[in-house]
Amino acid sequence: MLSKRLKALSDFIPDGSKVIDVGADHALLDIYLTKEKNCLCLATDISEKCVWKALENIKKHQVQVKVKVADGLKGLTLNDEIIVIAGMGTQTILKIVPNNLTNDLIISSHHDIPLLRREMFKKGYYIFKEQAVYDKRYYVIIYFKKGRKKTNCYVSPFLTSNKEYMRFLLKKYENIFIHTKNKKEKLKIYLLMRKIKKFL
Ligand SMILES: C[S@@+](CC[C@H](N)C(=O)[O-])C[C@H]1O[C@@H](n2cnc3c(N)ncnc32)[C@H](O)[C@@H]1O
Repeated sequence: MLSKRLKALSDFIPDGSKVIDVGADHALLDIYLTKEKNCLCLATDISEKCVWKALENIKKHQVQVKVKVADGLKGLTLNDEIIVIAGMGTQTILKIVPNNLTNDLIISSHHDIPLLRREMFKKGYYIFKEQAVYDKRYYVIIYFKKGRKKTNCYVSPFLTSNKEYMRFLLKKYENIFIHTKNKKEKLKIYLLMRKIKKFL
């Protein structure tokens, strides 16, 4: 029922957690968490159409999942829920996360992962856990907690033991290297590639 990406994300969530899934769309994650991990979920989406789709799925699976139309966290009362934001780009995700937020966050952005790590660090979050999962393409899932700890935005120490992902990352930077004209940028990417090679 769940994609490999969403299953990996669900594995980050402890049994019995309270969860707010922002941009839940089909709410499949919430249905799974409620059924299999005894979680209490609120599935939200900015699109009314998606919330109707979620409601249909929830009815079909006969589970108790709350739903709400909402733009990000606007208008939601927050307590100690884990907030999930998955399946969007980093810019959209960063707009959803206010600077004064303290909840745990599990984020899976479709792109700009270094930017996500850097901006979340600026918002006072550190990486508690992280995983790269291959589901037709690579997705990175990051569990952020509020607090100060150094973050490596480009080569996450959580991912360096995943040789296949390191090979993918190296290929990506090799491609960027070839197409970069700026000398300073080229040197930065070269050093990054050298660092990644150490893990292969
Ligand atoms: C590609 S779907 C991802 C669905 C699910 N989270 C997943 O990872 O499979 C992205 C969803 O985010 C919703 N979305 C985009 N911006 C949003 C916002 N500011 N607040 C809430 N939902 C948003 C879209 O309507 C869409 O349903």
